[in-house]
Formats: sequence, C-alpha cells, structure tokens
Amino acid sequence: MPDSPPADLPSTDLAPLELPATVRRRAATARRVVAFTGAGVSRESGLATFRGGEGGLWDRFRPEELATPEAFASHPERVWGWYAWRFRAAAAAEPNPGHHALVRLGEIFPQLTLVTQNVDGLHQRAGSRGVLEVHGTLRRARCHRCGTEREMAAAVEESPDEPPRCPCGGRFRPAVVWFGEPLPQDVLRRAAEAAGEADLFVAAGTSATVFPAAGLIDTAHRGGAVVIEVNPEPTAFSGLAELRIAAPSGEALPRLAAALAACRAG
Ligand code: OAD
Repeated sequence: MPDSPPADLPSTDLAPLELPATVRRRAATARRVVAFTGAGVSRESGLATFRGGEGGLWDRFRPEELATPEAFASHPERVWGWYAWRFRAAAAAEPNPGHHALVRLGEIFPQLTLVTQNVDGLHQRAGSRGVLEVHGTLRRARCHRCGTEREMAAAVEESPDEPPRCPCGGRFRPAVVWFGEPLPQDVLRRAAEAAGEADLFVAAGTSATVFPAAGLIDTAHRGGAVVIEVNPEPTAFSGLAELRIAAPSGEALPRLAAALAACRAG
C-alpha cells in the first residue's frame, strides 16, 4: 500500500467532513428535513448562475429585458429566444454529484422536502421526487392567455425563434416565474410549511437574495431548524447557519450526505 494517495486525487474528497456537535445531535434524531437549492447547485453541470462568479447571467443580460411580463409583451421573440437557449442548455446538461447527493439525502431522511429555485429540472432527472419548484419550470410552456400547458421541448422544436401560438390565439411562454409575478401559491405554502417545521435545513448554491423564496431560510431558523449552508461565498443568511461549508456543492453535498448518514448509523 502506498503511504499517501495519488497526487491527482482532490484532497477535499479524502478529508472527512467534521460536523459540529450541534449538527450531529440534531441529525441523529431529525425527521423533517428541507433542502433548499439555487443556481449554484447546477454550476458544476455547466449551467450559469445569475449572480456571483464569472459569467453570471444577470451580469451579461438585463433581467428587465428578459424576465418580466412587460418584456414578453413588447419583445416576445427576444424573450422566447433567450429561454429557448437556456432550455437547450439545461436539456443538454447532466445532473452532477450535488444533485445525486440530494437524492441520497432523501433516502437518509425519508421526510425530506426538496425546494428549488432552479427551473432546469436537474433534481428530477437525478431522481429526486416531489420537488417543490418555487420559481416554476423551464421544462413546460404555458399560454399567457388561457393557461394551457405543453412540453417546452416540443414548443422550442416547433418554433425556436418566436413563441408558438396557442389555439386560443395567445402565445406560449416558459412556465417560469418572472420578476413582478407571484410565486405559485400552493407550492410556496407547502415550502413555507416544510421550512417552518424542519428539524434540519440545508441551503445550497443560493445567493438568498430573491424573496419570498430566500425568506424560507429565516422561516426555518425561527422554527428551530439547525441550518447548514453550502456555498463557496457567504450570503446574508450565513449568520443563521450552525455549519457553513465554503465549497462547491458537487464536492460538499456528497460529503455532507455521508456525514449525516453516519450520524443516523449511531
Ligand atoms: P444566484 O445566481 O443568485 O446565486 C448563486 C449562488 O451559488 C451564489 O451565491 C454563488 O456563490 C453560489 N455558487 C456558485 N457556484 C457554486 C457551486 N459550485 N456550488 C455551490 N454554490 C455555488 O442564484 P439563486 O440564488 O438561485 O429567479 O437566484 C435566485 C433567483 O434569482 C433565481 O431563481 C432567479 C434569479 O433571478 C427568477 O428568475 C425569478
């Protein structure tokens, strides 16, 4: 046996994650667990985040020109084309070890509620079930007039450059939440309930700047949850966390899941 591991192995994979005693104790008995994710969790799948790091979408594009009902009304082709581009990128991407670790978390804690701000569908493709998509989904298109829904894949294929027409005369748009629009109320209610009742709350890959979704972290903390944050950068909510893991989620979440599983084993 060699004394040391091969040099090309990343050292973060080798070091066991040290959980503070407060987290270990809570993990041993926790029943209700919430994972709350943002764009950072899909970064290692090759998808851009909105803020932070290089190439953030909102550094390159103006949200008011692309992600508002007014933008869709005045420039439907531009808005549709941008979302068609993002849809293709998401469809071509693969779930990364962070997504898979959250599937594992659901096996460790059967009462896991996974709440995501992401619209890319990668959690579901990794195998997570019952995902609460508080900002909607890019996988579906919805008529802005009558509300009829269809698959985004077929809509983009049929009409890559402009929003396809609905039989009612309206136009299809991506079924995502735009600035100035309410979140899907039933989804938000279920997410808020889960956060308020959570024993353990894992926030991963979110800048926690867009409300009301970001408020779930505070809801969970006030409800007594032990909060764990996974993000290379600190956020406004870092101070609420019992444990902050300043590493990419593709590395941190598998190690966190393994460490939490060990707490369950005794
Ligand atoms: P943001 O782009 O605001 O934040 C991404 C976060 O991920 C940042 O805090 C980064 O530090 C972190 N990050 C980057 N790489 C990471 C990695 N490999 N692992 C873990 N974290 C990493 O994304 P969200 O918080 O999801 O809303 O943004 C919230 C909402 O703002 C989005 O849902 C979207 C956007 O406008 C709508 O479109 C309505």
